Amino acid sequence: MLSYTALKHLHIACVVISLSLFILRFYWSFSSPQQLQKKWVRVLPHSVDTVLLISAISMAWIAGLNPLDHFWLLGKIMGLLAYIVFGYIALKSVGSQRGRILAFIGALFWFALIVHLALNKSL
Ligand code: HEM
Repeated sequence: MLSYTALKHLHIACVVISLSLFILRFYWSFSSPQQLQKKWVRVLPHSVDTVLLISAISMAWIAGLNPLDHFWLLGKIMGLLAYIVFGYIALKSVGSQRGRILAFIGALFWFALIVHLALNKSL
């Protein structure tokens, strides 16, 4: 069983890898779209995001934090959903270039908000 501190380190490592892979995939979607078809590029981001979420839920469970009692935690969950939706639109090959760039900026905004909530535990 991983300790709370180990889970937190794992969570933060996944956060960094998840953001790096998202930015890399967005860049590749313009410069070399064929990269996005590679198996590891398709599988790794989902694996990392799954570990990110499992570590998050485990920490909340261990610390006995209920999202309905802790607004910052609820905000992170909602923010994660928004980050996923914006990120999905940003990487979609059928969208307009302008729309995708706006969605990319939107995803980064939500990501920054989640980090802010994580660090300050309030808005
Ligand atoms: C993209 C999504 C996410 C990002 C960028 C993110 C970012 C972070 C960061 C940077 C920390 C470390 C804070 C510190 O050093 O004090 C952290 C901690 C934490 N996160 Fe996340 N997180 C995300 C998703 C989630 C979700 C969805 C949940 C809730 C289920 C969650 C629950 C937690 C908890 C419980 C901690 C530990 C807080 C503490 O002990 O100080 N995170 N997160």
